[in-house]
Amino acid sequence: MDTTSYGPDRPLGIAVIGAGMAGAAHAAAWRAATTTRSPFSVPVKLVAIADIAEPLAQQTAGRYGYERVETDWRALKDAEDVDVVSVVVANHLHRQIVEELAAAGKHVLCEKPLSDTLEDAQAMAEVARSADSVIRIGFTFRRAPGLATLRDLVQDGTLGPVVHLYGRYLADYACSPTVPMTWRFRGEPGSGALADVGSHLLYAAEFLAGPTQAVSGARFRTVVKDRPLPLGSTVGHGRVEVSEETEPVTNDDWAGWTARFGEADGIFEASRVSAGHPNGLRLEVTCEHGAAVWDQERPAEIQLMVREPDGESEHRNGFRTVILGPGHPYVGEGFPMAAPGIGFGQNDGFVFQARAFLEEVAGLPEAESWPRNATFDDGVHNMRLIAAIAQSATDQGREVTIAQ
Ligand SMILES: NC(=O)c1ccc[n+]([C@@H]2O[C@H](COP(=O)([O-])OP(=O)(O)OC[C@H]3O[C@@H](n4cnc5c(N)ncnc54)[C@H](O)[C@@H]3O)[C@@H](O)[C@H]2O)c1
Repeated sequence: MDTTSYGPDRPLGIAVIGAGMAGAAHAAAWRAATTTRSPFSVPVKLVAIADIAEPLAQQTAGRYGYERVETDWRALKDAEDVDVVSVVVANHLHRQIVEELAAAGKHVLCEKPLSDTLEDAQAMAEVARSADSVIRIGFTFRRAPGLATLRDLVQDGTLGPVVHLYGRYLADYACSPTVPMTWRFRGEPGSGALADVGSHLLYAAEFLAGPTQAVSGARFRTVVKDRPLPLGSTVGHGRVEVSEETEPVTNDDWAGWTARFGEADGIFEASRVSAGHPNGLRLEVTCEHGAAVWDQERPAEIQLMVREPDGESEHRNGFRTVILGPGHPYVGEGFPMAAPGIGFGQNDGFVFQARAFLEEVAGLPEAESWPRNATFDDGVHNMRLIAAIAQSATDQGREVTIAQ
């Protein structure tokens, strides 16, 4: 991209498609992205929020300072003042929107999972590979300072190679049978809790332990078999008034599986019906030289245990809590008050993700940028894992190898 074409008279224009739960996080993140690190080299303008629910689009645009709203996302394709677009709608809508935006030359940041089917995801990756613009997928949790710290501790040898890991993403948003039917509860087995929250878990596990070689022992369970139809439009996991009419839930409320990495093994579960866990992504990693834990429910700390080389005082050793601060990834450059113990959470990950995307669009070399966002090929790989786990569940837990 010729970034010299952008300036005060022609700023880089941003738009977000979808003003729901994660759409609002994207809208806020683009606003904050230029306030992290150093001043951003290219002027940025918040142009449009597109959502079929106009009042919601108006609310999000007003709250985060976007110039206009669109009720048809297609208006953004031909908009000359829009360069960068977040796609933050239901998974089955991603493909058409991304393909048309890419064809129009827009830079696209698409939400996870890439699509609702592996076939659509593969087609999207094909488009991304031949596009001239920046086309990426946001796996937001890689920006969590605690998870990034665990990865650093593995890779710099403090913990050393992963021996085994336990990971789970327990959510409670679907516990109640009165939670209305939405796009999240429709689709093939594997497109439920596994694709929704498990996609994050799959990415996070590989972030620590490297590529998955095989999955096995998979099981799915649908706990709430039917859900009432909503009487109004829904946002995220929010409640609305419901009808007496119900629709069957066709995908998984809970998924469990094991995975084999290069030299490590792991056990995992993803759930949307776990009472008491609103947003419980947790990874416990055991390595050659010690172990560490990061939990999204306490995002600004990690638990760390480093074994002593001689082992003589091992009886005094154990897990300790490390409060994250400016010495850890993203914290020092990411916040206005970058002091130890300031605390932070998931919304901040969207900001760091947006900043990394803008840096790539502006042509900042990779070595000087925050880590690039994942490619659509990474998104396809993530979908392959989901499909393999679904295959294993169908075949009574059979091991399914992952094509590398
Ligand atoms: N990275 C994360 O942490 C994270 C968190 C939540 C959701 N997500 C992902 O974000 C995406 C959206 O999830 P959500 O929870 O925000 O969904 P949501 O249901 O809250 O919002 C979706 C929005 O899309 C709008 N919409 C529907 N059809 C549309 C169309 N044709 N054009 C424009 N807008 C349309 C709806 O009116 C709604 O406001 C999903 O892919 C989901 O997996 C990611």
